[in-house]
Amino acid sequence: MKAIHLYLLSGLTSLTLLSFNQSNANNKDQLTKNSVDMKFEKVALPYATDALEPVISKQTVELHYGKHHQAYIDNLNKLIVGTKFENADLETIVKESDGAIFNNAGQALNHNLYFTSFKKNGGGEPKGKLAEAINEQFGSFDKFKEEFNAAGVSLFGSGWVWLAKDKNGKLSILKESNAGNPLTSGLTPVLGFDVWEHSYYLDYQNRRADHLKGLWNIIDWDVVSARY
Ligand SMILES: [Fe+2]
Repeated sequence: MKAIHLYLLSGLTSLTLLSFNQSNANNKDQLTKNSVDMKFEKVALPYATDALEPVISKQTVELHYGKHHQAYIDNLNKLIVGTKFENADLETIVKESDGAIFNNAGQALNHNLYFTSFKKNGGGEPKGKLAEAINEQFGSFDKFKEEFNAAGVSLFGSGWVWLAKDKNGKLSILKESNAGNPLTSGLTPVLGFDVWEHSYYLDYQNRRADHLKGLWNIIDWDVVSARY
């Protein structure tokens, strides 16, 4: 019997550990029957790969989720072997690591959050306490979007624009380079737009602003509001 543990990553608050056993009578595997394989997996895509069109094309979802995101996960699983992060949860790795481990852990977490922020026929406005906090902090939802888009457009190079909350619920917009996540500043990420070119170049080429503008039409505000 070989025990396999899978971490199913579905955002910040629902990290779930499942265990199951897999029968294997192969002699080779008998040699490692006492080992435990623990590895991260990317969050399941909660919609079909063409569900976000025309804002994000099927081709971009397939490449971004299927190839880029998978590569971050695969790299992370390789890099943590033999390190103090081997059995750590993803948030802990993002908070405490640096270098290549941080880059891949950050991108693994960032993309889990990103891909679960959308749905087919999404859009509209935030709900409940998040809506109230946005109005209080930015004046209105439209003003918040304007400021968020401007941050995304002006971010130099690759990175992320985040809406984050502090321990008192105060909201802020952060521009993070590369794999940056608000967790490293002691903040909780609520919504992140990926402004790496791999997220939009096939569909929008250099028109990052148009891409960011379109993303508001596919946001799943039930999911995003629940992070607040
Ligand atoms: Fe990305």
